[in-house]
Amino acid sequence: MFGTGEAPISVSSSPTRTGSFELVVRKVGNVTGAMHNLAEGATVGIRGPFGTSVPVDEYKGKDMLIVAGGIGLVPVRSCINYILDNRQDFGRLMILFGSRSPKERLFTDELAAWSARDDVEFLETVDKGDDTWKGNVGVITTLFPKIDFDPDKTICVVVGPPIMYRFVIIEAKKKGLADERIVVSLERRMKCGVGKCGHCQINNLYCCQDGPVFNYSKVKDYSEAF
Ligand SMILES: Cc1cc2nc3c(=O)[nH]c(=O)nc-3n(C[C@H](O)[C@H](O)[C@H](O)COP(=O)(O)OP(=O)(O)OC[C@H]3O[C@@H](n4cnc5c(N)ncnc54)[C@H](O)[C@@H]3O)c2cc1C
Ligand code: FES
Repeated sequence: MFGTGEAPISVSSSPTRTGSFELVVRKVGNVTGAMHNLAEGATVGIRGPFGTSVPVDEYKGKDMLIVAGGIGLVPVRSCINYILDNRQDFGRLMILFGSRSPKERLFTDELAAWSARDDVEFLETVDKGDDTWKGNVGVITTLFPKIDFDPDKTICVVVGPPIMYRFVIIEAKKKGLADERIVVSLERRMKCGVGKCGHCQINNLYCCQDGPVFNYSKVKDYSEAF
């Protein structure tokens, strides 16, 4: 934001949907506040994209289990829509999504569309319900007993707040998933995005360069990451 500063923002749209791309920005501080004040048609500066993405092409033919917590849905929505736009290339598509409350649910039209599709198994929960909410209440791990999958055919992609990873991975492993079949995105503390500032470092890895998407088998021993 010229005159204000910059902030890392994830690409939320799928590369299959060309011509434009989508960012979803929560207003929390200076940069995001200034973005929310922009008039339609205003100019912003963008550098990137940086880092790794979910290697979806390696997973063709596999069953996909996507676990998204809160605003983790913003980046992983790109992966979900990529799979939907190449639906014939993948096996089952299972999506588990958890929000803190019904008011904080994102992309509600898309959630409804996914849940209406025969070729998507969509399960959702909120940590705390309200009068409007008729669905599951509880943290995202409460959805795991409700699904069955073949651990030898399934790839699990997990994106959410740092606290979520440890508990989701415990549930995934209880279902028999090997470490190599779990993919995590550690989108944290990034500043420069180009391997210079060191803010995103976990042990010898730079999230902005080596990640943010990692195979869990490569980072599982990094206690700082989980
Ligand atoms: C890889 C990556 C991807 C991301 N993707 C997205 C995305 O897609 N969408 C998105 O919305 N965000 C995303 N974020 C988060 C976003 O980059 C940060 O929230 C960023 O700091 C926002 O910049 P800002 O200048 O608006 O906020 P900052 O001014 O940096 O404020 C950041 C935090 O400080 C708090 N804060 C600010 N001012 C005050 C104050 N006066 N008193 C108390 N607390 C205060 C805010 O509540 C906020 O939690 C991503 C972060 C990373 C690392
Ligand atoms: S964000 Fe600066 S080194 Fe990774």
